[in-house]
Amino acid sequence: MHPDVQAVSADPVTLVVMGASGDLARTKIYPSLFSLYCQGLLPPDFSIYGFARSNFDASAFRASIAEKLTCRYAPAESCKDRITEFLARCFYVSGSYNASDSFLDLYAAIRAGSHESERVVFYMAIPPFLFSSVAHAIADAGLVRCGSHDTWPRVVIEKPFGRDRRTSDALSADLAQIFPESQTFRIDHYLGKEVVQNLMVIRFANAIFEPLWNSRFIEKIRISWKEDIGVGQRAGYFDNYGIIRDVIQSHLAQILALSAMERPVSDGARDVGDAKVALLQSIVPPSPEEVTIGQYSTGNVASGTAYRSEPGIAGNSRTATYARIKLRIENDRWRGVPFILSAGKGLNTRMSELRITFKPVAENIFCDQPPCLPGNELVARIQPDEALYLTITSKEPGLNLVLTQTDLNLKYQSMFKTTIPDAYDSLLLDVLQNDRSLFIRKDELDAAWDIFTPVLRDIDESGREPELYPLGWDPDAE
Ligand SMILES: NC(=O)c1ccc[n+]([C@@H]2O[C@H](COP(=O)([O-])OP(=O)(O)OC[C@H]3O[C@@H](n4cnc5c(N)ncnc54)[C@H](OP(=O)(O)O)[C@@H]3O)[C@@H](O)[C@H]2O)c1
Repeated sequence: MHPDVQAVSADPVTLVVMGASGDLARTKIYPSLFSLYCQGLLPPDFSIYGFARSNFDASAFRASIAEKLTCRYAPAESCKDRITEFLARCFYVSGSYNASDSFLDLYAAIRAGSHESERVVFYMAIPPFLFSSVAHAIADAGLVRCGSHDTWPRVVIEKPFGRDRRTSDALSADLAQIFPESQTFRIDHYLGKEVVQNLMVIRFANAIFEPLWNSRFIEKIRISWKEDIGVGQRAGYFDNYGIIRDVIQSHLAQILALSAMERPVSDGARDVGDAKVALLQSIVPPSPEEVTIGQYSTGNVASGTAYRSEPGIAGNSRTATYARIKLRIENDRWRGVPFILSAGKGLNTRMSELRITFKPVAENIFCDQPPCLPGNELVARIQPDEALYLTITSKEPGLNLVLTQTDLNLKYQSMFKTTIPDAYDSLLLDVLQNDRSLFIRKDELDAAWDIFTPVLRDIDESGREPELYPLGWDPDAE
């Protein structure tokens, strides 16, 4: 989080996007860098080098990037010029990910263009199995000074960080040979989303919530993630990971940590990280009985493809596309409150939200046999249509006393007359500013894996079959 975006350093910077031909690079990274450029948040002397195996000449590469750039922050009349200026800073080098020769070519291109070669950000927008070999090839080509404890160069890696605690540790140890922790930015883009960034502010900048934020007043907390599509192009990747690793261990565990942690000593990265780690370490790893797993099938839907019939997926795959996990937190604040994390693909809608259900009023003068009215709910809707709302019971206007549930609703689009930044705008700016508060520390990653590794191992080793559910299923309807 950047209290002062104007404090962006004017020192030159070079960004290297590994996997520049890929979906993430084209749809997120370049558009966000362009947004920062339009807002004057990149240093005057910046350059962006795309690197991938695909053969592009400079103009074909720039054209492929231009397709996805939008003028969120440039007035329409000057947008075309801004795109042209931005693309003039974008270069492309084609090569092999595990050949240091290819990275020598990259280095030579950076030097030949008289661009910055020490203050470099390497963005790993590549499949995870390539992270280690690319890092080593970069080092072998002399692009990083091994063992340096400086904050440059920097590496950004996308989740998933391993498949369990053991493989995560091995990946971290391997990458640490090239990039020490002070240079490593583990991105979980949910942490850059506006509503997720707002959770700490809502909790700790408003006196009304924190006194109620405990087991005395809260009945349960649900964190839900739904997609209404199947795995699509990412089938091969997804089948190797499944929904618990892909969404719950990362995005949902981070939202849980922010919503349940104790108040950090400050809003600085170290203090927030410490509070999140303490919370994650208080979570009891779920037993197999506390975990439900499912997989989408066609069911009665005539159209659509069952998971096991998706291209690239084995006909007997047991990978879960849906999971619901009940977690318990063993501390004084939360003992007895269930935290229910659920995520699924091929469901009835696309949304993600945090839903806090408060206990009903115990002695309610408006009913004969309390509790007769549901408890209040505070909902942080992360996507779509960012919003925060609180359901309250109120009297319907009229001569009779009729109670009804209504919302106090903070809709971002209508309340804040401003463009809501993409999560990657925020996170890329933080990388440039060396602000680590929205990135995942190694000990945080360890604590998150420690929660889920035992049950993942049990699912893998027991040969547990996911229950089939029909495409378009609404798990909340039951
Ligand atoms: N897409 C998203 O929205 C998203 C969201 C969250 C996290 N991520 C993570 O971000 C990273 C990149 O995602 P992505 O969707 O952009 O991936 P991608 O499109 O599958 O891959 C990026 C590039 O890597 C190269 N590549 C792909 N498969 C390869 C293989 N088997 N061997 C060697 N090179 C290969 C390809 O470039 P060349 O063939 O030209 O080299 C491809 O253009 C992944 O770690 C992913 O898990 C992505």
